[in-house]
Amino acid sequence: MTQISYRAAICTALSGPDSIRIEDQAVLPLQPGQVRLAVKAAGLNFPDLLMTYGKYQFRPEPPFVPGMELAGEVLEVAPDVTRWRVGDRVSGGNKNGAFAEQIILDATLLRPLSAALSFEEGACWQAAAVTAWHALHDKADLKAGESVLVLGASGGVGMAAVGLARHRDAVVIGTGSTAEKRAAILAAGADHVLDPADPDLAAKVKGLTGGKGVDVVYDPVGGDLAITATRAIAYGGRYLIVGFASGTIPQFPANHAMIKGYSLIGLRAGESSRRDPDLAERTRIALTALADQGVMRPHISHRFALDQAADALKVMETRSVIGRAVITMA
Ligand SMILES: NC(=O)c1ccc[n+]([C@@H]2O[C@H](COP(=O)([O-])OP(=O)(O)OC[C@H]3O[C@@H](n4cnc5c(N)ncnc54)[C@H](OP(=O)(O)O)[C@@H]3O)[C@@H](O)[C@H]2O)c1
Repeated sequence: MTQISYRAAICTALSGPDSIRIEDQAVLPLQPGQVRLAVKAAGLNFPDLLMTYGKYQFRPEPPFVPGMELAGEVLEVAPDVTRWRVGDRVSGGNKNGAFAEQIILDATLLRPLSAALSFEEGACWQAAAVTAWHALHDKADLKAGESVLVLGASGGVGMAAVGLARHRDAVVIGTGSTAEKRAAILAAGADHVLDPADPDLAAKVKGLTGGKGVDVVYDPVGGDLAITATRAIAYGGRYLIVGFASGTIPQFPANHAMIKGYSLIGLRAGESSRRDPDLAERTRIALTALADQGVMRPHISHRFALDQAADALKVMETRSVIGRAVITMA
């Protein structure tokens, strides 16, 4: 019997996760170029939460289904789509729509899901992995034996950077604000962990690098921690500005960057690939190989059913996620 509806988490008002309702959605016909997926798992990203408050740069009007990242199985392909077949394991995503049992996506937004990754892992892999890759490979050109300080190393993009830096045989120092987070950062491959609130953080980083300081800082946190990290960077180092999870944009003193000869390097992983198709293709090839080797395999600390989508979004507000949170469909 042909299915006529599926369940989805609907954001019904821009008042945050409490506005989420689980409702039936009608199955719509495919348009040319589209693929219908059975969503198996959806990864939580901070913008999913912001969108439920109408506070993200992309501001859909309710009702809408949140969720940017997913992995699943192909259920149906439009007649003009030749790249995918029914039953293919894929990952992908769009600006929203993933917190549902089904989603329709443009065929170009899908990637094969590596056999090395489960659906849950695949739903959390791409965005963090491409960010870590673009930062450490394209921007910092991190070499074996160099040292890297990863701030927010228990977070999504932080933990991916720990895994990639480890894979490249760098010396990895990660910061984590709780003992549980620091244990997870070590398990992800860091050589050393430090508490970001430690007043001696910069001195300790220098101590771990023979007094030199780190060659690379990877910073998805910002705030005061960023300024502390510039005191721990080596002469001629590279400071990667990834994001501002702390909510505060740091003001870097230009004279300090000059005196220590370090570079401040901003990056936007997704935008760089959109602007440069050759870079996008090189990235695709590199990430396919890394996924197959299980590099940057996500740590998942929180799992939710679709019925608990509101709780899943709320946990993003608590700073308690280690690695990633995921919604798994029944
Ligand atoms: N530039 C790019 O291309 C790019 C791509 C993706 C994401 N980003 C950005 O990178 C940032 C991090 O993203 P993510 O997905 O890794 O986030 P996440 O999973 O929430 O991790 C952020 C980490 O930051 C630390 N943190 C410090 N102060 C915090 C605060 N007040 N609230 C929450 N966390 C705080 C936390 O670790 P501790 O508790 O140990 O401090 C946390 O693990 C975001 O700003 C995101 O927009 C940038």
